[in-house]
Amino acid sequence: MSRGSEPDAGTTGGTKQTYVEDLKDHAGETVTLRGWVYNLRSSGKIAFLILRDGTGRTQCVLSKKEIGDEAFESARALTQESSVSVTGAVNLDDRAPGGAEIHVESFEVHQLAYDYPITPKEHGSSFLLDHRHLWIRSSRQHATLRVRAEVIRALQEFFDERGYLRVDSPILTSNACEGTSTLFETDYFGEPAYLTQSGQLYAEASAMAFGKVYCYGPTFRAEKSKTRRHLTEFWMVEPEVAYMRLEELLGLAEEFVTHIVRSVLERRRAELETLERDISKLEVIEPPFPRIRYDEAVKIAQAGGSEMPYGEDFGAPEETLISEGFEKPVLVTHFPRSVKAFYMAADPENPELALCVDMLAPEGYGEIVGGSEREADHDVLRERMRQHDIDPATMPWYLDLRKYGTVPHSGFGLGVERVVTWLCGIHHLRETIPFPRLLNRIRP
Ligand code: 4AD
Ligand code: MG
Repeated sequence: MSRGSEPDAGTTGGTKQTYVEDLKDHAGETVTLRGWVYNLRSSGKIAFLILRDGTGRTQCVLSKKEIGDEAFESARALTQESSVSVTGAVNLDDRAPGGAEIHVESFEVHQLAYDYPITPKEHGSSFLLDHRHLWIRSSRQHATLRVRAEVIRALQEFFDERGYLRVDSPILTSNACEGTSTLFETDYFGEPAYLTQSGQLYAEASAMAFGKVYCYGPTFRAEKSKTRRHLTEFWMVEPEVAYMRLEELLGLAEEFVTHIVRSVLERRRAELETLERDISKLEVIEPPFPRIRYDEAVKIAQAGGSEMPYGEDFGAPEETLISEGFEKPVLVTHFPRSVKAFYMAADPENPELALCVDMLAPEGYGEIVGGSEREADHDVLRERMRQHDIDPATMPWYLDLRKYGTVPHSGFGLGVERVVTWLCGIHHLRETIPFPRLLNRIRP
């Protein structure tokens, strides 16, 4: 079915394709938009088509008088998500959604969609997750994923501008980084291999080669529990810096998170508004962030009603209680070594404690950053591996780093989906990744 001229190499009706987000630069011009029907209202003489093209939505006005009876009737038959190209004059109008309106001269239907399953009525989350490939067309999902893309842009910008070299770590590995209980195992030509839990151990090798580095990529944890903070596949950025101590690492982490928040406020404000995020809560985020030690954090959690004893790791309820007293992210340091990973350096003032940090987001969004100074001594590290049931013989290359010019070094990991959940102010992190992988969900 075709109305108006046939498309020819990027043009329709002799006009070049324009995107909705660029309409403001084309006042009075005739442009062609290509997209999908978001909504359609019509009377006997005039139809209002809301077209979405991925960059935004705009109203297209079709009048029977201008386009003729036959074209008008086929416009009225358009269904939600039908694909169409529309050519018409751009009329800037502050009252119109997006600030512009198209007076349609011609249009072309590429496909008339039928039985689109996601309708304006309320759907349950399991139905929506089953239709995630279509759900991502909806306005809230759209806004969330655009915030995510900005977080990823900003995280690379932050490190690139500061002279960090991006050196990515492998996805298939032969060793565990964050404990052996959440490994996804696969067969590597007859040898067991795992999907990486963290790029850190390789980032340490890269830091000894390039000084300051970061890696960014997908990481995997076979999390057996269903929570709103855990995915089995999530994306993590991990800086690692030779000669850096914990104190400097805390400064780096707060500068980094502030940069991400500011970038999103600057470039994705409209999306935050679509999500009805209380933006004032993000505008206060700037260094310095409050810093407390683990023992103090335990007292705060206990005073708030938690029964967690000193010596255990925080769960989601404790993290919420701890963050409640602060309007900025809080840096919790010096956890007992017994609850932390094998590679963390001991506090020289109290070897029972690790030189580590967890950053807890405000408003109960939980841990967004985990990091530490790394154990730099060969023999101590080997002993720590044994205590954690890691056979040192499986990672001779990692111990090599402590043999050939070992230095103090530090790094952290920031989980992209946790940060997007907080910035967007949404309940469950599954909406912050295009196609979430959860316990019991690997489709679509
Ligand atoms: O605290 P974690 O486990 O630290 C590490 O993996 C270190 N090796 C990082 C490093 O020092 N280079 O994870 C780091 C962050 C958490 O703070 C959280 O934001 C995120 O990764 N994260 C998850 N996000 C979603 N789903 C999960 N199952 C996650 N587990 C951790
Ligand atoms: Mg952690």
